[in-house]
Amino acid sequence: MKYVIGVDLGTSAVKILLVNQRGEVTQEVSKSYPLIQEKVGYSEQNPTDWVEQTVVGLAELLAKFNGNPEDIEGISFSGQMHGLVLLDEKREVLRNAILWNDTRTTKECEEIYERVGKDRLLEITKNPALEGFTLPKILWVKNHEPELFEQTKAFILPKDYVRYRLTGELHMEYSDASGTLLLNVARKSWSEEICKRLDIRPEICPPLVDSYAEVGAITKEIAEATGLSVKTKVFAGGADNACGAIGSGILEDGKTLVSTGTSGVVLSYEMDEDKYFEGKVHYFNHAVPGAFYTMGVTLAAGYSLSWFKDIFAEDIGYEELLADVETAPIGSNGLLFTPYIVGERTPHVDANIRGSFIGMDASHERKHFTRAVLEGITYSLNESVAIFRNHGKTIDTIVSIGGGAKNEAWLQMQADIFDANIIKMQSEQGPGLGAAMLAAYGCGWFSSLQECANEFLKEDETYSPIPENVERYKKLFKIYKEVYGKTNELNEQLMEYRG
Ligand code: XUL
Repeated sequence: MKYVIGVDLGTSAVKILLVNQRGEVTQEVSKSYPLIQEKVGYSEQNPTDWVEQTVVGLAELLAKFNGNPEDIEGISFSGQMHGLVLLDEKREVLRNAILWNDTRTTKECEEIYERVGKDRLLEITKNPALEGFTLPKILWVKNHEPELFEQTKAFILPKDYVRYRLTGELHMEYSDASGTLLLNVARKSWSEEICKRLDIRPEICPPLVDSYAEVGAITKEIAEATGLSVKTKVFAGGADNACGAIGSGILEDGKTLVSTGTSGVVLSYEMDEDKYFEGKVHYFNHAVPGAFYTMGVTLAAGYSLSWFKDIFAEDIGYEELLADVETAPIGSNGLLFTPYIVGERTPHVDANIRGSFIGMDASHERKHFTRAVLEGITYSLNESVAIFRNHGKTIDTIVSIGGGAKNEAWLQMQADIFDANIIKMQSEQGPGLGAAMLAAYGCGWFSSLQECANEFLKEDETYSPIPENVERYKKLFKIYKEVYGKTNELNEQLMEYRG
């Protein structure tokens, strides 16, 4: 039997999957690393932690593997998007990586609009300037740490850095490059115009490759440290959302995905680059050859739930916490949550907004709060679904992956709030499986990713919307949408008290 490995470099951990030719996940290893949050709005990680934990995880997986390491034909990567890693001339890391959920760059976003122009930026990159994207982070370092920026010889994204350390070869692939705000998305080339207007040397942009491209081999040192064979082929991989889409079969027009990881996304496959969403949703290159996807992002989806559990229910597990959600009614007895605990992206591009519990009552129990958190996350995702629908997309069926697909009550809630059929996958593995599929396709096991999906992916249950729940949620969603406008000014005033 032959195998491939999918490495998913997430925000809280790296998850490594060993997958055989039938698409069965035969081993799975997860290794975590810390988030560094020095100030409100800051979110960093040490790239060395990613590499060390990936090597430890691979070694653990190989130690338990009974076959010949040469039977592992390929390895590929999925990664958290947008994170900025800066390298000096020896290709050593110059500072901690600034991550996708870091919101320190509001001024730099304004600077981009001033110097490039809003319309021109949208024309070239198909996206607006958002704090989370890479270009504002590059500018932040240029403005605040100029001596460090002077030493910069290359910038790179998280999973591309890990792959570099495993192979010695530096590349960036299109699906992640499109999240930098420096790529001409339609032409698939770095934008010299944006570099010029912002005084960024274009030489710091790494060579671009396709997601399924073979980009090198495992170095001898890494082979020794992990047990991997130097013959295992290394493929570039994709952004976590692109890989999550591949691993859920979002491979043709009309397919939609909802993923609840640390962030939450609503993602829709696009055949071409010329649909117009006024920049309201992100528009990126897919890891599928020649395709694109559009996407709305809730910054704190799974993160809202893990934050709530850590603060208010630290002593119990998720299963226990979520077990009594079903016993709380729709609307959580008048309690409403907005998940803006680290600011928001879609539909409100606002780094300063913060979350609320509206309607707290002395009768509320923990279960009402838990249900309100799940409902609030789902309402936020529904705002992205609504943008797609308002721009003419039909969304009647959605594949759900991540934390939101692990709980029956939450799956039914998604069907009722989105007013769409929700499909749960059998043995859902998310972005790691998408990365493994890119390796399987790259190795030539299949003639297309679709053929690979036909072999690897199986749908499990479908959750259908219940009409009376849909009606109740429609009314609640209207109230939810009002909270932003009624709390944003209060949150601006509270800003000076944040640490
Ligand atoms: C997408 C985004 C997040 C990260 C999470 O634009 O910022 O979904 O990719 O890893």
